[in-house]
Amino acid sequence: MTSTSRLPIGIFDSGVGGLTVVRQIHRLMPHEDVLYLGDTARVPYGTKSPTTVIRFACEDTRFLERQKIKAVVVACNTASAWSLPTLEHHFSLPIYGVVVPGAEEAVRKTRQGRIGIIGTAATIRSQAYVKAIHALKPDAQVFVQSCPLLVPLVEEGWLHHAITVAALKEYLAPLLRKKIDVLILGCTHYPLLKPAIRRLIGPGIRLVDSAETCARYVQRQLVLQALAAPGNQRGRIQPFVTDEAEHFDKLARRFLRSPTERAWQVDLASF
Ligand code: DGL
Repeated sequence: MTSTSRLPIGIFDSGVGGLTVVRQIHRLMPHEDVLYLGDTARVPYGTKSPTTVIRFACEDTRFLERQKIKAVVVACNTASAWSLPTLEHHFSLPIYGVVVPGAEEAVRKTRQGRIGIIGTAATIRSQAYVKAIHALKPDAQVFVQSCPLLVPLVEEGWLHHAITVAALKEYLAPLLRKKIDVLILGCTHYPLLKPAIRRLIGPGIRLVDSAETCARYVQRQLVLQALAAPGNQRGRIQPFVTDEAEHFDKLARRFLRSPTERAWQVDLASF
């Protein structure tokens, strides 16, 4: 343990979805303080170009770094998929993403080596999950599907709505035809759709929840790097947002499944 271990973990996402990662981190490591940045002024990242996503991720990380934190978690799958090497190059803090832990878990879980991935258009375009899986298991057959409609449907709260079920059916059908035995939920929002997805795919396909696997990875890394928080006090979650806080506060409850402290609005240009 070092004095750095008492500092908060900085976590960022394009918006509110990264709270699914915060939730899992808080469940596993209740003593950790968390500073969360949701870039709500510029969400979604999943429809944007790689250059833009990388620039936003650098600005998000710079903001968190200035707050005195011990490590950065890139909760956003899109930002993880595109920006991790750049962030690791430019920042000296430990930086953890969601892609590698998700790929590792998929490789552990697959029996037939047939892995499906769903994510935003930008995540799928990056091939980051495909490359991470092939680095671990070169003979894996990987099938991808971008699902651009799911993020707005989840934010609308339509987790079981007929329109959401229809969209899921359409998106999952090509993967089911490929007889996948593992499906990676490669987006912050998809854990909320787990019950609806499970109903459609049946019990035979194993799910990889990238928020859960990321939290376990972060826990392992913090312990390895002697950065795990000491003590037994319950950690605080302090959210920051780049657009008005009211909208975030309302949605946050759904993603975190508990109320957060009130979010503070910040202007990243001044950091
Ligand atoms: N947070 C994004 C992700 O996990 C989803 C929302 C967005 O497109 O920004 O890919």
